[in-house]
Amino acid sequence: AAAEKGGYDWFMLKEIAEQPQAVADTLLGRLGPAGELVLDEVRLSDQELRDVDKIFVVACGTAYHAGMIAKYAIEHWTRIPVEVELASEFRYRDPVLDRSTLVIVISQSGETMDTLMALRHAKEQKARILAICNANGSTIPRESDAVLYTHAGPEVAVASTKGFLTQVVACYLVGLFLAQVRGVKYADEVGAIVENLRKLPEHIATVLDEMEPVRELARNLADENTLLFLGRHVGFPVALEGALKLKELAYIHAEGFAAGELKHGSIALIDQGTPVVVVVPSPVSRGSVHGKVVSNIQEVRARGARTIVIAEDGDDDVVPYADHLIRVPRTPTLLAPVVTTVPLQVLACEIASARGLDVDQPRNLAKSVTVE
Ligand code: G6P
Repeated sequence: AAAEKGGYDWFMLKEIAEQPQAVADTLLGRLGPAGELVLDEVRLSDQELRDVDKIFVVACGTAYHAGMIAKYAIEHWTRIPVEVELASEFRYRDPVLDRSTLVIVISQSGETMDTLMALRHAKEQKARILAICNANGSTIPRESDAVLYTHAGPEVAVASTKGFLTQVVACYLVGLFLAQVRGVKYADEVGAIVENLRKLPEHIATVLDEMEPVRELARNLADENTLLFLGRHVGFPVALEGALKLKELAYIHAEGFAAGELKHGSIALIDQGTPVVVVVPSPVSRGSVHGKVVSNIQEVRARGARTIVIAEDGDDDVVPYADHLIRVPRTPTLLAPVVTTVPLQVLACEIASARGLDVDQPRNLAKSVTVE
């Protein structure tokens, strides 16, 4: 077993380290030399893709967070309305679907029963189904009209890491491909995004090289009872994912919030010493969201929070308010989750390790949940 873990203490650490490769493999062959998307494997005709007037993204757990990120990216690039839905809720609320609806189901294992049942419901309503899946030949891709495989390789640890990052990347590919097929006029922006997609493996590797302070911080946080995670825009699903990882692995109460919602309730939770992890959007992001999140850091700190700030290289605005500062490489806003999630994975994994827990097999959880 030690050999299988490639020298790492846990499969999870091995899989975190494999992320640059997993993302590179998921991009491989799908980006053409002129920056065009090459997704012939997605067996939906151009006409079917042009007819899509609404998209649902349906998934569970970590894959649902990938779906939330997909919504921001796909709506922005394609102007098609996108709804994200937990698979376990989807069919029970009688969603409005027809043959011009595209349902994107995301599942690492391809066997999650909630997701499969949602897929079957969508199929009965005549929607087109595109699966984003990691396990070749599993049930969900077999029952879908089309599949885009993430090429993450086998994921053994119960908590998904490389599965998640590659799902997010696959969602970008789908969004860009839809924009291309439909001739959406974002040519310049899409070209720049493709260039930046190619840089993601290197950026993830850079983050991984600088994780020693995060490990030290994790040992320091191991006895906390609660951690809060804040993010905005695509940083919000990253905050939810950071909180989920911590709950799953370390059995510490954790919650992710949309930073803008803080003032509408959750700020009441902040007490002396409460650790608050903040995922800061790029300072070059559209609008003034960056400034608003920096204000949120100030606000929670003024109320006693211990701030753990994840911010882009060169973002100096956060420095005065960060008790701990974790740097990530500069990345376009929509792609940032692929780098900002990585320190949160490491944080959760190392806190769980420091608590003496079994990182790969957390209590009460299964890698793939095949019951509804
Ligand atoms: C289980 C796992 C989660 C995972 C979820 C969805 O609950 O413990 O880590 O995110 O299933 O899995 P899937 O294979 O459908 O992506």
